[in-house]
Amino acid sequence: MKTVLITGGAGFIGSHLCEHLLRDPKVKRVVCIDNLDPTYPVKYKKENLSLLLPSKKFKFYKKDIRDRKALEAIFKKEKPDYVVHLAAKTDTRSSVHEAAEHESVNILGTLNIFDLAKDHKVKKVVFFSSSSVYGNTAKPPFKETDMLNFPLAPYGATKIAGEVLAYTYFFNFGLPIVCFRIFNAYGPRLRPSLVLYKWVESIMGGKVIEMSGTGTRKRDFTYVGDIVEAVDRALKADVGYEIVNVGNSSPITLKELLRIIEKVTRKKALVKSRPSSKASVELTYADVSKAKKVLGWKPKTSMEKGVSIFVDWFKENRL
Ligand SMILES: NC(=O)c1ccc[n+]([C@@H]2O[C@H](COP(=O)([O-])OP(=O)(O)OC[C@H]3O[C@@H](n4cnc5c(N)ncnc54)[C@H](O)[C@@H]3O)[C@@H](O)[C@H]2O)c1
Repeated sequence: MKTVLITGGAGFIGSHLCEHLLRDPKVKRVVCIDNLDPTYPVKYKKENLSLLLPSKKFKFYKKDIRDRKALEAIFKKEKPDYVVHLAAKTDTRSSVHEAAEHESVNILGTLNIFDLAKDHKVKKVVFFSSSSVYGNTAKPPFKETDMLNFPLAPYGATKIAGEVLAYTYFFNFGLPIVCFRIFNAYGPRLRPSLVLYKWVESIMGGKVIEMSGTGTRKRDFTYVGDIVEAVDRALKADVGYEIVNVGNSSPITLKELLRIIEKVTRKKALVKSRPSSKASVELTYADVSKAKKVLGWKPKTSMEKGVSIFVDWFKENRL
């Protein structure tokens, strides 16, 4: 029946989404575009792809979303019914020093995807935005209607730009687009630069954990399986243009995260404090009432369960 095109499908969240769609009998074809960006080891992305490539329903194109001609040929050939756009430069901190690269992938690349989705009459686009759009000024819990003028890093600014461009494609061409503001995703295949990964790696290797500041910053960690379920619901929902928070709505401090890791691994962490990054927000906290109303979605996975799944995966795949 339907062909779903996923950009960034070789990455952490994208590979889970591809896996989920390949299991869905109603999905005929899953097309993935990813340039295997080397921000973290390409071998991890190849490992993710190796789980998907055996399926006859899966097709992979190693292409850059800034390459409009290449994208156009793929859209023409594959005729996707739906697009989920995850491809992006994703590192908040490095975006401060590599703003131009983040701008070109996350804005120009995103524009290419929206424009081709419009040209090829795609039924719906799900665009992955981020909780980074809220910066430090939103009042907790963060609502989709909060003001967004003060993101702390270029990464967040590019995601705001993506959401705003999405609206213009809905307004002028009626292209249905759901923008997901994702809050601190985690789970198997997590990016190695993220805190849960780094801490589990250190604790398993008996190394010292680096705690940013005093560990009082709070994060609304959201399990990747719950995010995939939200995408599934968005693809099926009858919507025009919507911005939707996808978060756990239950933030914990970094110190609490460490306690959970210690409990799950049954190991005591050695901790040293390091200065916090200026571009790192104090708090992320999603109000998910809109997700419930529009998609009938709410987070299901407790932190302890999610961390335990992650640790099991880490032991099997990274030790
Ligand atoms: N992981 C999180 O906590 C989180 C939070 C908020 C938003 N998001 C968003 O979710 C999406 C997926 O994030 P992730 O954590 O899976 O990251 P990821 O880095 O694992 O995945 C992104 C993928 O995009 C690909 N990519 C990068 N530049 C590209 C380009 N020019 N052309 C084609 N492909 C390119 C990368 O190779 C990678 O496989 C991103 O848009 C990210 O901004 C993630």
